[in-house]
Amino acid sequence: MGRNSLKGQVKISGAKNSALAIMAGTLLCDDDCRLNNMPCLSDINTMGLVLASLGVKIKKMTSSWEFNSRNLKAEKAPYDLVSQLRASFFVIGPILTRLGVAQVPLPGGCAIGSRPVELHVRGLQAMGANVTIEHGVVNASVKGSSGRLKGANIFLDYPSVGATETIMMAATLADGVTVIENAAKEPEIVDLANFCNSMGAKISGAGTDSIVIKGVERLHSTDYEIIPDRIEAGTFLVAGAITHSEILVTSVNHDHLIPVIAKLSEIGCKVIQEDKNILRTIPGELRASDIETLPHPGFPTDMQAQFMALLTISEGNSLVTETVFENRLRHVAELKRMGANIKVKGNSAHVVGVPMLSGAPVMATDLRASAALVLAGLAADGKTIVQGLQHLDRGYQDLEQKLQGLGAKIQRLQDYQP
Ligand code: EPU
Repeated sequence: MGRNSLKGQVKISGAKNSALAIMAGTLLCDDDCRLNNMPCLSDINTMGLVLASLGVKIKKMTSSWEFNSRNLKAEKAPYDLVSQLRASFFVIGPILTRLGVAQVPLPGGCAIGSRPVELHVRGLQAMGANVTIEHGVVNASVKGSSGRLKGANIFLDYPSVGATETIMMAATLADGVTVIENAAKEPEIVDLANFCNSMGAKISGAGTDSIVIKGVERLHSTDYEIIPDRIEAGTFLVAGAITHSEILVTSVNHDHLIPVIAKLSEIGCKVIQEDKNILRTIPGELRASDIETLPHPGFPTDMQAQFMALLTISEGNSLVTETVFENRLRHVAELKRMGANIKVKGNSAHVVGVPMLSGAPVMATDLRASAALVLAGLAADGKTIVQGLQHLDRGYQDLEQKLQGLGAKIQRLQDYQP
């Protein structure tokens, strides 16, 4: 039920996209790796199954997981797992650099775009890998007798998060120095570099355009804490803004949220840093604003749908342009079912603010769209029923319990029949 103001505080979980890349990173070392602040999400469990299929021993203790990949196999992970989770392709770099050979099924496209991997592949080829794609499987092997990749200078045509991660991980155990130019600068890249360095890797410059990796012979065990999820945190900040509520969002890193906080302030909701890891929303009148998604430190594509929900009830005309993924405006049709006034042209959505949304049954099309529909439901008049919660469960830990803790009238319907 919507139109209910929120109050209190909510604690943010560990970052899904850091955890996924770092789980792949545990394959770089044959000692125990312990990861703390692991979020409890279906994507994380799927990645655990991918690693287990490669011979990794995993021990789960709520938010801490232990990995041992002493018996890592060069066999390919089952396609039915890889096709569920694109991040499972990220294992290619660590397996290739450790074993000299890797086979990983091509993950294919997904709900938000075609998501090719040629930048990952070109990076590995530049480091001396032989790569062929046959029957839907990427086969990579290292040329020459040493079995080791060679450091290289790699310029990425686009600062792809996944390609930067694949190349960075592969380069940790390569022979010589690798430089990645036009690298992605997302906080998850910095987290992966810090994790690799905690195992003895020599990576500098992560978080800038240019990352330098000096290859080492081997990595050692580590005990590492995953950063907070900036997208979950941003989603709760929007929950505060869209319900005109003052809430505290805790266990966050303010610096990772600068583009999101700046845009919220432009729209009319101030966010103040209460303490080192605590943010407070100060609600205000909501005004239109234009948004263009960009690689970090630009506005994150993973917050576009949630902000679109907010702009549907912000006074005036907003233009939302999605530049990162080619098919990430599918939530528009669902928001329109709730009374939003939105027109899509190409990769842009023109949003005219309406005074109020009205609750309706809606269907989630992907992870961030599902969060946007929940946010819209919090602000809408009457009851909203969001279907397709398997998308939500990929990336939001206990969303309904966390919102209930803030006083939202939300519940999960077990056997809902439309
Ligand atoms: N791209 C290519 N070729 C490549 C690689 C990427 O054309 O070889 C294109 C993609 O098709 C896309 C754009 O580059 O259009 C950006 O892709 P990128 O590689 O940067 O994204 P990713 O690594 O596939 C990660 C996150 C996404 C997030 C993006 C952008 C993980 C597991 N996923 O994806 O998260 O949107 O970076 O920030 O880290 C989500 O959490 O909802 C999510 C989709």
